[in-house]
Amino acid sequence: MNEKLAPSILTADFSRLGEQVREAIEAGAEFIHIDVMDGHFVPPITIGPIIVSSLRPLANETGVTLDVHLMIENPDDHIASFAKAGADIITVHAEASPNLKNTVQLIRSLNVRPGVTLKPKTPLSAIEEILPEVDLVLIMSVEPGYGGQSYIPSSTEKIVCLHQMLDEQGLSHIELEVDGGIKAHNIAEVAAAGASVLVVGSAVYNANESVAGNMAALREALG
Ligand code: DX5
Ligand code: ZN
Repeated sequence: MNEKLAPSILTADFSRLGEQVREAIEAGAEFIHIDVMDGHFVPPITIGPIIVSSLRPLANETGVTLDVHLMIENPDDHIASFAKAGADIITVHAEASPNLKNTVQLIRSLNVRPGVTLKPKTPLSAIEEILPEVDLVLIMSVEPGYGGQSYIPSSTEKIVCLHQMLDEQGLSHIELEVDGGIKAHNIAEVAAAGASVLVVGSAVYNANESVAGNMAALREALG
């Protein structure tokens, strides 16, 4: 198995963000997942391009992928700023983009890998047509907005369906990322359903254990 771990910095200690991200990379993180929220598409406000540009030198040094998840309205207005800041992947919500094809093309035109994502209640049909044009599909396994929620069990079936859809269309090279509620107790189930990238937020950055200890437990659980 070679699933990638993508720690989300949402619950990291931002007073020492560089250190916290370096710890995750040293413990084997392939992606660093950056959750951008605007107070409109989802209630909270989190961070913007300046955090991406702050992490860019560390990404250059280590080769880690900066994986930016935009939970914002009017994503087209902000894509250039995130590209300029150094995002490797920009993922947009189908629900937030009136013309998903244009949005995906805009991301690609800026030499960034495009991803698309869906809220838990949005069906896969909303992204079926765009699949050949993206590099990543993100299945949300919690309602977007907050870290530390519980994995929605029906997400597993959605992952299986998407995995099969990608297979049938000869698109198995596309990363299938899953985001929300992934912990040591369910990570193997999510991977077995077909996920290739696993977002892990509060399972990595929490007060109970070190980042290295948490990452090791997740890898171990993955098998
Ligand atoms: C939720 C975010 C997730 C979240 C994951 O809106 O997109 O990336 O931070 O955190 P956990 O792993 O704690 O569910
Ligand atoms: Zn996310």
